[in-house]
Amino acid sequence: MDETMDIDGSKIPQHIAIIMDGNGRWAQKRGMPRTAGHRAGIKTVKRIIEFCSQIGVKYLTLYAFSTENWKRPEREVSALFKLLVYYLRREVMELNKNNVRLNFIGDISSFKDDVRFEIERAKQLLKDNDGLIVNLALNYGGRLEIVNAVKEIIKGVKSSKISEEDIDEKLFSNYIYTAGMPDPDLLIRTGGEYRVSNFLLWQIAYSELWYTDTLWPDFSEKDLLSAIADYQERERRFGGL
Ligand code: IPE
Ligand code: IPE
Ligand code: MG
Repeated sequence: MDETMDIDGSKIPQHIAIIMDGNGRWAQKRGMPRTAGHRAGIKTVKRIIEFCSQIGVKYLTLYAFSTENWKRPEREVSALFKLLVYYLRREVMELNKNNVRLNFIGDISSFKDDVRFEIERAKQLLKDNDGLIVNLALNYGGRLEIVNAVKEIIKGVKSSKISEEDIDEKLFSNYIYTAGMPDPDLLIRTGGEYRVSNFLLWQIAYSELWYTDTLWPDFSEKDLLSAIADYQERERRFGGL
């Protein structure tokens, strides 16, 4: 069966961003520990990355850990980082086969050495691929991203690399993690919540939003196709008529 049947191949969103929510509830519903949900969520990540490559999405930005997620019990946080290292070690060759490039957005400077090592290794290994670009948002916060951009711009002004008159939206966009990339066309949130949770605040100004109650481990290629089909029905006006 051609799974892409119902969508217009010439109008695939260039950039899809996903708030992958609902792992914990998925596990709890099954009487399992929350970390089992995160493990199941990784399988969805694999499937969705592969599918996005196949259908010709150019950028996929996945929210994996927010600057607020440090509030969770230490046990869960360390389990999440262990899973991340495991995923990067195990999957990098598969990502390579799919011609995927990995990019990390968020403040990874405070991560433990082994985590930073795997991140660097994966990035290096995949850096020459020219297929789907996956942005993995780790210790990512939209507000922090904006504050950091402001600080960098101020530094530039102080050292006369930037003149105040040149500061506009375009210049600002060059100081955030997604510099050089188009803004997300479509923002998906799984897990039934209707909020943005500090994700890509600058970049989603004109993104189309799509929510589903489906918990992330259950999110399927078919669900993604429905999101894309809905997206293709919408008229994007960007403030015009
Ligand atoms: C999303 O699932 C994954 C992360 C935030 C790391 P949750 O862990 O938030 O799952 P729920 O929302 O508690 O079900
Ligand atoms: C958003 O999910 C962050 C990630 C998916 C990484 P959360 O579960 O942390 O968001 P809230 O707490 O429901 O807003
Ligand atoms: Mg959640």
